[in-house]
Amino acid sequence: MKRVLSCIQPTGDMHFGNYFGASKNWVDLQADYQCMFGVVDYHAMTMPYDVKKLRVNTWAMIFNLMAVGVKAENLFIQSLVPEHAELGWIFNNFAAMGRVENMTQFKDKSNNSQEKAAGFISVGLFDYPVLQAADILIYKADFVPVGEDQKQHLELTREIANRFNNQVGKEYFVLPETLLTKTPKIKSTADPTRKMSKSAGEKHYISVFAEEARLKKQIRSAVTDTGDTPEGEMSVGVANLFELLKACGKDETHNTLMQDHTNGQLKYVDLKDATADALLELNRKFVENRKNLEANKKEIKYQIKQSSAEIRKRAQETVREVKDLCGLLNVKF
Ligand code: TRP
Repeated sequence: MKRVLSCIQPTGDMHFGNYFGASKNWVDLQADYQCMFGVVDYHAMTMPYDVKKLRVNTWAMIFNLMAVGVKAENLFIQSLVPEHAELGWIFNNFAAMGRVENMTQFKDKSNNSQEKAAGFISVGLFDYPVLQAADILIYKADFVPVGEDQKQHLELTREIANRFNNQVGKEYFVLPETLLTKTPKIKSTADPTRKMSKSAGEKHYISVFAEEARLKKQIRSAVTDTGDTPEGEMSVGVANLFELLKACGKDETHNTLMQDHTNGQLKYVDLKDATADALLELNRKFVENRKNLEANKKEIKYQIKQSSAEIRKRAQETVREVKDLCGLLNVKF
């Protein structure tokens, strides 16, 4: 079976943009690949963060992922596999400064107004993609399911692997490929010109665990007419609701309402009701799962520590081989 690896930062909540854009994909991939999915807490330290919240958010993300269907045995927590950091350090020496400087994510994040105001940009933020390369190569992943925004980091990962292979004179690392699955790009219902995201504020995302009343309200107040839509064309807000409906797997309802739209007979309230119902169906299941997981918190945490330990064995093997190959010592204490 081919190996798939992907990771996510512990951001706390999970919204439908995250779910349809990434997590659902992870859940589906589990049937066809050997999967490893990490919650990357080392990466979460690269921007100013709250020490009191990091551990809490890390576990929260684990519970979120499990609640939507990611299996415990495929999950690990990055800092429980410290070899990631060790390999990341080794990779620093195979990563070209000029290339890392050119990463758009670094440019965006270091340009972020908060960071600028604080006047502090960490070396960790700069080095972020090198650690990401270690996340991927440490498991010799064949495929990495990520969005468009991560393509550049994958390219850098391949460059690092290549340079390493050349230096040690052996095709040691397989060059991983991006698994660009077609995932819907969900927009904020409050402002459908921007993507659904937590950082934009409360009203710009709908949590997959939202309270029913709140979810309904958010859909009911979704912006449908932005004013600048040419006559006869679909506004971005309406298109977003259709996208959500489809993402929920409600093809039939989607097609019927789309027909109404084509005929100029679509009532927005019908589209909104259908979308809210579809989202609520998922939401109820996820909330229920999450409640059950919370009720078994201790066992779940134990399971994740065990799966991290299992996954760590593969990472340790890679680091041992890498150290041999690049001239470092390996001593078993
Ligand atoms: N950089 C990724 C993001 O911002 C998260 C990430 C860290 C990742 N390590 C990874 C993704 C390894 C895929 C593989 O979403």
